[in-house]
Parts: sequence; structure tokens; C-alpha cells
Amino acid sequence: MSRRRQVYEGKAKILFEGPEPGTLVQYFKDDATAFNAKKKGIITGKGVLNNRISEYLMTRLEEIGIPTHFIRRLNMREQLVREVEIIPIEVVIRNVAAGSFSERFGVPEGQALPRSVVEYYYKNDQLGDPMVSEEHITAFGWATTQDLDDIMALALRINDFLYGLFLGVGVKLVDFKIEFGRLWNEEEMRIVLADEISPDCARLWDIKTNEKMDKDRFRRDLGKVEEAYQEVARRLGIFPEGGPRDLKGPATMQ
Ligand code: TMP
Repeated sequence: MSRRRQVYEGKAKILFEGPEPGTLVQYFKDDATAFNAKKKGIITGKGVLNNRISEYLMTRLEEIGIPTHFIRRLNMREQLVREVEIIPIEVVIRNVAAGSFSERFGVPEGQALPRSVVEYYYKNDQLGDPMVSEEHITAFGWATTQDLDDIMALALRINDFLYGLFLGVGVKLVDFKIEFGRLWNEEEMRIVLADEISPDCARLWDIKTNEKMDKDRFRRDLGKVEEAYQEVARRLGIFPEGGPRDLKGPATMQ
């Protein structure tokens, strides 16, 4: 029944060959994992919402000149993206202490940081995504110093823009993780934002109550997980018109 070739399956998404060379179809699953897949679950409707949220944020970022892999949303769970060579670095940008930062440095969750902090992690599940420095990245050849200059500049611009965008809808962008890829055009290479931006890979807190509206609700068994993803979409003004009944999306993904 499979109509197209699967290129890659990750924990939350599947990549299929796209309709034209140099394109891929990115399919968003409802599967959720945490703690390097030691914890597994399903967040009903997450794939549909993350597809929309990522579409929305990548489109807004393109409008301010950030290059991304995003081309267009195809349907409830799929978007067309440019095929890029993923740089195996998870770039985390933090505005407020939380999660592993709080644990590592003994800073209470919720404490604002004096300035945004950018961290790099080596994308490798077997090793548990260890934190790495620029030295590790260049020594292992995962990226060059020039690549890292571009990545740092893009990450800070993305953070400044998204921080303001979320603030405008009553959400504090505590931290988030992004990935970049290399896009080749003849001999020329450009670094572009890839993967996704969604409540799976960001911490989003209500500005007034600090209530968590992201995957920490799943990681920490806080309940109301689906509702949190829905609320983020609602605040961004992109909650599917049909309401929660529309969130299941098509049963098949082929
Ligand atoms: P951390 O505090 O656990 O290091 O997470 C920092 C941010 O990165 C947070 O917004 C969640 C996101 N993140 C991912 O997207 N994938 C991961 O595997 C981890 C550990 C964190």
C-alpha cells in the first residue's frame, strides 16, 4: 500500500521522498518520547498541531529573512520541505533557567537569565545527546567555525523574534531546541533552519501563571497534555477550525 519511499523515521516524525528531487515530505506523528525514549506515549492530535505550529513559526521566520527548509503544508499531518544535510548538533537557546540547565548549574527553574544562553548538544541517541563545545564540533568536523558563526547568528535572531512573537500571545519562551541543515545549490552551500519548532522542543509558560504549555506536561506527568498543545495553537490563532474532532487527522499515512 506504500506509495512512496520512506527516507528516515525518527521518534516524532517520518520523512518520505518528496514529489520532486531535493524535496521531502515530513509526516508528524502523535508519538511522544522523553528521556531518550525511555518514556513513551501518545499525545492525541500532537502531530496535527505540531505540523501547523511549525508551519506558522517557520513562515513567520521566513518573512523576516531567516532561511528555512519549509516549503508548504500539504495536509493535516504532512509538510513539504527541502532536503537538507542535517548538521548533527542540537542548538538550545535559553532565556529562563529550566530543565537540564537548572539541574546542571543549580539555578532554580524560572529564574531569568542575564542574557540568552546558546548551548550545543551532539545529536546522538546512543550517547544520550551529550553537551559539546565549539571545540568538539570543529574537531570532530560536524561543522566549521564559519558554520557555527552562521548558526549562532541565526539562533539569536530566531530567539529574539520568537520571544517577542510568543510574548504577544501571553506566552514566555523559556527555552527551545532547533536544528540546522546544509542546503546545496550547485557549488553554493547555505545553512537553513530545519526539523520543526513546536511545543515538543520548546518550553512555553503562560506569562501570568507560569503554567507549562509544552512537552514537560508529558515528561513530568502533569496531565492536560493534549490541552496544552491545543492552547498554544489557539493562542497563535491557528487552532483547526473543526476543533478537537479534527485533530486525529487521516488514519493512514501512506
Ligand atoms: P533541557 O533543559 O532538557 O536540556 O531541554 C532544553 C530544551 O530543548 C527544551 O525546550 C526541550 C528541548 N529538548 C528537545 O527538543 N529534545 C531533547 O531531546 C531534549 C533533551 C530537549
